[in-house]
Order: sequence, then structure tokens, then C-alpha cells
Amino acid sequence: MKYFIANWKANKNLDEANQWADTFIKQPSITEKALVVVAPPFPLIFPVKTKLAQQPAIRLSAQDISLYDNGSYTGEVTAGSLKGLVDYVIIGHNERKQYFNENSDLLFKKTGQAIKNGLRPIFCVRNEQDAIPPGVDIVAYEPVAAVGTGDNESVENVLKMKTKLKLPAGCIFIYGGSVDENNVTAYLRSDQIDGLLVGKASLDPDGFYRIIKQALL
Ligand code: PGA
Repeated sequence: MKYFIANWKANKNLDEANQWADTFIKQPSITEKALVVVAPPFPLIFPVKTKLAQQPAIRLSAQDISLYDNGSYTGEVTAGSLKGLVDYVIIGHNERKQYFNENSDLLFKKTGQAIKNGLRPIFCVRNEQDAIPPGVDIVAYEPVAAVGTGDNESVENVLKMKTKLKLPAGCIFIYGGSVDENNVTAYLRSDQIDGLLVGKASLDPDGFYRIIKQALL
């Protein structure tokens, strides 16, 4: 079974999110060979979840969470408020590190918040320098040079990095960085790669389904 995580990043409005979900839900059912996780921006999680409810094999994820508990933190989205809405949360994406100065200390706290509230962190690392917090059992390797550039990392290099990362025993290992329908098969062929985090190529529902379909064949 392979994971396919659609990271929409800061894209789409309500109409566009509804259209995505309406189109995606028309695709043939996703079998047990794929576990699909959709990560829309916060305000679009609920509408997308509602539309995708007929396909129980599809899960929702947040793209980030607050390091705080529920309380007087105007503007924050806490893990507590996401309970019942999402099963997963992406933590430590390299864009958070680049544009919001997220550091290891903060990411350890956010991971703790996720776990405490029953959300499963999808923890992103750029290389072996990024420490993995306790309790993480899904790690996404996202080399900076490959994310959003069209320059995907070779399977060989991904597997080399896998040996360097100090992954917890039994950890699910995901690759992300310019995965698309033309290069996905190579990753899927490797039994060392448990799934893919797809950014740009997940924004089109038909294209995203074509990526998933290659695992269903
Ligand atoms: P990309 O994004 O597929 O657009 O490179 C991947 C990611 O950020 O996880």
C-alpha cells in the first residue's frame, strides 16, 4: 500500500476546492493499494472533507499547526481545533522553514501538539541534519532542490538518503519533490519508498488521480 499525499500549499479558493473534490470523487474507487491524503489550506479542509466523505479511503491533513494549546492565541490554528477534521498534519515542510523560520525546537513542540491531540504527523526533513522528534512514524524526505523546481530527485539518491536519516523502526518513508505522472512509476517500483508527497501535480484532480492510478494497476 502506498501513500499519496496531496499538498495544495497556499492554493485554491472555496469554488476551486469544491470543483477539485467534485472531479476527484468521480474517479473510480481507490483500492487498498493506495491511501490518499488531501491537505488543503485550513479554511478549505471542511468543505473538501464533506465532499470526499463518500470515499472513506481518502483522508484529510492539515499543512501545519500551532505550537500552542487552545487558548488566547488570536489567529492560530491549534491541533485541538483540528480534531475530528483531519487525521494527519504535515509538520516542518521546508517552505515553513524557509519563509517562517521554523526551527527544530518549534517543530518538536508542534509534533508534540499533534500527537497529544491524536493527529498523525507527517514530518518533513531536508536531509540527515534535520532531527526527527519522538513519536513520529511518517517521515517525508523533501530535498530542497527538488521541491517545486521540476527537478525531482532520483530514486537512487532518495534511497541513499534513507540510509542516512535516523528513521525510527517501522517508520513510513515518503518522498516529495516534483513528483508527477511521468516520473512517479520509478518511486512506486521501490519497496523502500512507502509513498509520495505531491505538491504542484496534485492541484489538478485528474492529474493527481493519474499519479495514484499507477499504484492501482
Ligand atoms: P512539488 O511539492 O511536488 O510541487 O515539488 C512537493 C512538496 O512540497 O511536498
